[in-house]
Amino acid sequence: MADTGVLDRNRREDDENELSLRPRRLAEFIGQARLRENLGIAIEAARGRGEALDHILFFGPPGLGKTTLSLVCANEMETSIRTTAGPAIERPGDLAAVLTNLEPGAVLFIDEIHRLNRAVEEILYPAMEDYTLDLVIGKGPSARTMRLPLPRFTLVGATTRAGLLSSPLRDRFGLQYYMEFYKPTDLHTIVRRSAEILRVDATDEGAGMIAARSRGTPRIANRLLRRCRDYAQVRGNGTITPESAAAALAMLNIDALGLDDFDRKYLRTIIEKYDGGPVGIETIAAALGEERDTIEDICEPFLLQLGFIQRTPRGRQSTRLAHEHLGLPFRAHVADESPQGRLFDP
Ligand SMILES: Nc1ncnc2c1ncn2[C@@H]1O[C@H](COP(=O)(O)OP(=O)(O)O)[C@@H](O)[C@H]1O
Ligand SMILES: [Mg+2]
Repeated sequence: MADTGVLDRNRREDDENELSLRPRRLAEFIGQARLRENLGIAIEAARGRGEALDHILFFGPPGLGKTTLSLVCANEMETSIRTTAGPAIERPGDLAAVLTNLEPGAVLFIDEIHRLNRAVEEILYPAMEDYTLDLVIGKGPSARTMRLPLPRFTLVGATTRAGLLSSPLRDRFGLQYYMEFYKPTDLHTIVRRSAEILRVDATDEGAGMIAARSRGTPRIANRLLRRCRDYAQVRGNGTITPESAAAALAMLNIDALGLDDFDRKYLRTIIEKYDGGPVGIETIAAALGEERDTIEDICEPFLLQLGFIQRTPRGRQSTRLAHEHLGLPFRAHVADESPQGRLFDP
């Protein structure tokens, strides 16, 4: 699947600036307090015992800090890190080559781990559990398995969707963390930190406005910060104020909740074309000309969080809140009036 949609380009911006903005240590990592505390204990304990960290799985929508945390883990454990992604490991041999080249105690980061194929996944089980590699040599009746010992290592997996991971794989991660959308106060801190690193002048209120429209997502906050910086530089006096930030965000069609053209188009499709739903995700994807995966990863989680859509067994349904936000009339569905329908009412 090629990630070439407009949505990808806008929301998955990964440029060299992102590198400099990445927190390197757990203490620099802002927000996700509970995750940070739990991970901190696991790291300190492993270090105290002089062991490799247990395998870790991070779940959560794009841009919340999964890749960043994998680097933080390696830094805190003072070990090397090897980074790859599920779709990049095509054959068991590819994974075997990566595993046999790890230094003892190293971190192996596999992004989009839900996209590993079955044959590769099966190599991973004994590697994670017993630190051994079971290789099949030859074919047919003369095939034999060879068992190779591996150094202790830490597998860090990241996935945007928990549901797509097979349970045998999932069960082999000793540490599992759900990433949540960031609170506005944490995003505010993130914007101020990024502004300082990028040497951008921003007033507290200016930074606050960017934070409030970043959909709970640090990557989006950093992207909007750069766009607001450009605007303040060209049209203002170089400082990001609430006025210049509002003007810059208006030019990007980003509304008060941080929704952009695509989010509104998605909601309008459900509301106007399909009468508020329920409508299947494949139908919505076809109507919008976007990949289903992209919509599920990048667009829907925040709308669900806002309570603008519901996922029902029969498809997506818009809620009163979404209609109110778009200024469209809301008519409760017949199904919603029934006692059973009401159970699913927001
Ligand atoms: N807790 C955080 N504090 C500060 N910046 C963060 C934090 N989490 C993420 N970021 C920023 O957001 C960007 C995207 O994070 P990343 O780890 O690439 O997300 P993911 O891998 O989940 O898509 C990073 O470049 C980093 O600058
Ligand atoms: Mg990532």
